[in-house]
Amino acid sequence: MKINWQSGWVAGAQQLLIPVSNNQGEWIQNLEHIGTQIGVSFKAALEDFKAETGETTVLYGPDCKVFLLGLGREVNFAEVLRAARLFAARQKSKLSTSLGIYLDAALLPADQHIVCIEAMVNGLYLGTYDAGKYKSKSTETHPLATEDAAIEFYLPASVSAKAVAKAVAQGQVIAEAQLGIYDLINAPGNKKQPAHLASFARAAAQRGNFSVRVLEKAELEAEGFYALLGVNQGSAAPPVCIVMEYVPTQEATRTIGLVGKGVTFDTGGISIKPSANMHHMKSDMSGAAAVYGAIEVAARLELPFHLIGITPVTENSVDADSLKPGDVIDSYSGRTIEVTDTDAEGRIILADALSYLVRNYKVDSIVDLATLTGSAARVLGAHAACLFANDDQLAESLALAGEYSGERLWRLPLWDVYKDELKSDVADLRNFSGKPAAGAISAAKFLEVFVDEHPSWAHLDIAGVAYGDVDFLPHKSATAFGVRLLVEWLMGQGDA
Ligand code: BES
Ligand code: ZN
Ligand code: ZN
Repeated sequence: MKINWQSGWVAGAQQLLIPVSNNQGEWIQNLEHIGTQIGVSFKAALEDFKAETGETTVLYGPDCKVFLLGLGREVNFAEVLRAARLFAARQKSKLSTSLGIYLDAALLPADQHIVCIEAMVNGLYLGTYDAGKYKSKSTETHPLATEDAAIEFYLPASVSAKAVAKAVAQGQVIAEAQLGIYDLINAPGNKKQPAHLASFARAAAQRGNFSVRVLEKAELEAEGFYALLGVNQGSAAPPVCIVMEYVPTQEATRTIGLVGKGVTFDTGGISIKPSANMHHMKSDMSGAAAVYGAIEVAARLELPFHLIGITPVTENSVDADSLKPGDVIDSYSGRTIEVTDTDAEGRIILADALSYLVRNYKVDSIVDLATLTGSAARVLGAHAACLFANDDQLAESLALAGEYSGERLWRLPLWDVYKDELKSDVADLRNFSGKPAAGAISAAKFLEVFVDEHPSWAHLDIAGVAYGDVDFLPHKSATAFGVRLLVEWLMGQGDA
């Protein structure tokens, strides 16, 4: 998609998109006025069009088509992104390869013009997503996803060209990464064995010019990733641990460790899951995917952070060699784990990844992301992820970035009273208490043990938000939750 921009109004766009907030004084009169200038009467349509978020009306002139896109009352990044994504997805059949976007100063709050541009770019890209990757006959390419797709912004004279260029570039780079992450998470388990994830990370590293090291099975054995190897026992495909590092060319302001759960398919293991919804467990590597996406974006945008990304990757399968409930395994940290439930495998592989991070790198903060517990989904549904942190400033900054990006976080406690659940009679700790209560919290308490008292750690349980019903597709899909959130957090949207 080629994106250009210019100041003011230029007649001649055959397809024109006009975003409108209904919170702007005389918005109806202003729109009517614009209609007169274009030569299309908006009057009748404006009796029905309320400019609610995502609401779209199409108007036809003698040789042009105008789309009015509602942005509702509150024009912010998350809402505009949602509206633009819906627009691109729903209007696919009416759109052509070139689209003019007219941002009128009177139809949008002045302080949101730049935010609006980035969100429009990001949203339009995401709305072109085609989930039918494995159909033998491919679906028709979205007009805005074709080679010659072109967008032209017509902007108020007040916006700075430099700020527009930055917003467009960010919107584009982040959307490209998110589309790749959609594909990776939506891919079925048989198309994304650990080796595939390693290839994905290597390709991302090439695009972003950062380094990646893949610890293969032999190296994991030599290094002592016994917890990851334990979960992998029942799988025909060997595990990997992918270690990424992005070193900025300018001086790094901070070093951040990002850790993501990479279970390529979670059957539950011998503690097998019910079959009805098991196919959704192909998305159990969404935490790892978010880490790949965020590091690629940070590297491509040259953000001034030194980033270490670690993703342990394995399938959780059923086999004669699988871990059995009650088995005791070793771990990278040296702690022994009684595996009371083989379906609580995410915390086991993250244990090794977190230990590996804190024992081999000096990082200022750690953020891990994992589709860790059904409990997280029951607590907050599909609208927010559970946030845990031992550092208030880190928690607050992440939550703020969540609010800005629309990838919301809500904090839950890490009180030690929840620690008793992890006591084992036979090993140093057990992975599940057996009680169906406070599941997301006890999982977080388990992880906490393996960060070795690092003073700045946050855990995001994204089980409810990473994959599911989305408004811009007719079926369940990945959301790429975490990519935009982490990037906004790094870019300072989370500065408290
Ligand atoms: N991958 C699942 C968690 C999950 C559930 C993710 C629903 C996405 C949607 C995780 O490995 C798991 O099975 N957790 C168990 C833990 C329990 C056995 C302690 C759970 O939450 O039921
Ligand atoms: Zn599981
Ligand atoms: Zn899992």
